[in-house]
Amino acid sequence: MDLNTVYLSENLEFLKKIENNTIDLIYIDPPFHSGVDYKEFNDRWSSLETYIEYMYVRIREMHRILKKTGSFYIHCDANAVFDLKQTCDSIFGRDLFRRMIIWNVGSVSGFKSQIKGWVRQHDTILFYTKSEDFTFHKQYTPYKKEYINKMFRYKDKDGRLYRKRRDGKQYLDERLGNVVGDVWDDIYSYQTRTRSKEYLGYPTQKPEKLLERIILASSNEGELVADFFCGSGTTLIIAKHLRRNWIGVDNNSKAIELCIKRLDG
Ligand SMILES: C[S@@+](CC[C@H](N)C(=O)[O-])C[C@H]1O[C@@H](n2cnc3c(N)ncnc32)[C@H](O)[C@@H]1O
Repeated sequence: MDLNTVYLSENLEFLKKIENNTIDLIYIDPPFHSGVDYKEFNDRWSSLETYIEYMYVRIREMHRILKKTGSFYIHCDANAVFDLKQTCDSIFGRDLFRRMIIWNVGSVSGFKSQIKGWVRQHDTILFYTKSEDFTFHKQYTPYKKEYINKMFRYKDKDGRLYRKRRDGKQYLDERLGNVVGDVWDDIYSYQTRTRSKEYLGYPTQKPEKLLERIILASSNEGELVADFFCGSGTTLIIAKHLRRNWIGVDNNSKAIELCIKRLDG
């Protein structure tokens, strides 16, 4: 396996060739058991059992090749999240399930909003680690202007804004912002923002900001990030920008073409 390379391959065959304890961070965004036949890949299954068996053998390999300090993120939605959670629990161990992230994809319009009942509005990302000893860097979002105006009402002679605390002054310029929790509602999805410049039209393409958050939190510069269902290559592009090593695999030639274009651009 060469680093910083994207492979056109069936991922199970590829995974079997990778040595144990090799990868620092794996993010996957596989078919969700949605029942949709996208042109580029088919997400229709003869049964839920078939789908789960297909995922089980692949996730087991991913677990094997993760380093002891490594992290694993699987992106899914309500179609199979509970089945995938049980699958991952059986592989990683229930204790190493860290968090279920709810990503608010925004409210959809058009025919998707016409269904009877609540309109679908989020994806789910399950986060596991291989052991208790894992890399994690907390992420922050900047305070909103209104919050700053309301909370940091005092100004020093040198113009620095602060708020009063029991133990003294707390300066705005020393704060990192709001710590990111497990509900993400500040990143737009292409389901709602198809006009974004970043959008290449690849079905279920994920936003760069989403991958940036995951990669910054769960890896360090120079480490190895992998995506075995890489599609248009969002994970790889961001890993590259953030000076991580990376590998990507997809069995669709259009996906690989897009990855190469993005990585060269
Ligand atoms: C949901 S898309 C990934 C989209 C990606 N996150 C992005 O931002 O573009 C899932 C991808 O998995 C690929 N795929 C499905 N089964 C696969 C398999 N067995 N081996 C390799 N790739 C597979 C499909 O071709 C598709 O590109």
